[in-house]
Amino acid sequence: MVLATPRHKFLVWGGNGWVAGHLKTILESQDKEVVATTVRMEDRESVLKLLDEVKPTHVLNAAGCTGRPNVDWCEDNREATIRSNVIGTLNLADCCFLRNIHCTVFATGCIYHYDDKHPIGGASFKEEDPANFDGSFYSATKSKVEEIMIHYPNVLILRLRMPVSDDLHGRNFVTKITKYDRVVDIPNSNTILTDLLPASIILAENNELGVYNFTNPGAISHNEVLALFKKHVRPSFEWKNFSVEEQSKVIKAGRSNCELDSTKLVNKLKEYNYTVPEIHEAYEQCFIRMAKNGEK
Ligand SMILES: NC(=O)c1ccc[n+]([C@@H]2O[C@H](COP(=O)([O-])OP(=O)(O)OC[C@H]3O[C@@H](n4cnc5c(N)ncnc54)[C@H](OP(=O)(O)O)[C@@H]3O)[C@@H](O)[C@H]2O)c1
Repeated sequence: MVLATPRHKFLVWGGNGWVAGHLKTILESQDKEVVATTVRMEDRESVLKLLDEVKPTHVLNAAGCTGRPNVDWCEDNREATIRSNVIGTLNLADCCFLRNIHCTVFATGCIYHYDDKHPIGGASFKEEDPANFDGSFYSATKSKVEEIMIHYPNVLILRLRMPVSDDLHGRNFVTKITKYDRVVDIPNSNTILTDLLPASIILAENNELGVYNFTNPGAISHNEVLALFKKHVRPSFEWKNFSVEEQSKVIKAGRSNCELDSTKLVNKLKEYNYTVPEIHEAYEQCFIRMAKNGEK
């Protein structure tokens, strides 16, 4: 007798968000059962009620307070930031634990900053390295909640950095830096969503746990990104640089710059015959898709 594998059912949190929208689209394109919600994560009663109604096998938590227009907002709205990024995120993980549901959290790698042990071009940050960047309140909430959430046996934490989509959506890192008057020029790890979001579904479906740096391998500087953008998408594009010191005068919160070590992720995905392209190659492919999509 062959027993049918129980069908997975995904519940995506942060339903109106950018990453959540991409996840829903991918799951639908794979013909998977998916429901999205905008229920507030900190509302324990409503969260439990929804879990009991929908009965998901997997929660994908792409909800979080990122600030608008940017993370500077979180500096002045600390209680609201805590409510979402600490109380809400933990509450959702805990409710999933109580209902025996796997919970994937779309977290951030912006909890690190180049230091003496991890200089530009040197050793990159591994999953177990303690966070060393709390220059923004947003990052501080994210690193602290991760330290606690890691103790849950049902939680998979995926650390995105400067996510990039194949269009010029306002949340896309590339869109942001093409709109700034001036940009810094520092190598960073980036997450090309087309490469990595399908991988998040593979990891979730296989009930993988723990923390993964969720970026393409390698690091790429702002100028390298913009040069590739100019090459493939907008030949007329020009930009100006400024230093980190000059940048600090026009922003309220500090910004993290770092390279994450993606070895753990790459090795894990090999088990599922899934490869993630190196970041320069990934950007070439991303901008080729973007140009094909008619973006200018
Ligand atoms: N985009 C990036 O640059 C980036 C980089 C690294 C990591 N991440 C992380 O990835 C996740 C998704 O980011 P995103 O770019 O998709 O952000 P987004 O477009 O702002 O989406 C986040 C969504 O979460 C919702 N949300 C906020 N607090 C909530 C709460 N307490 N309960 C329920 N929903 C809540 C927001 O709804 P409301 O607007 O109604 O509050 C919003 O729809 C976030 O956790 C973010 O920190 C993003």
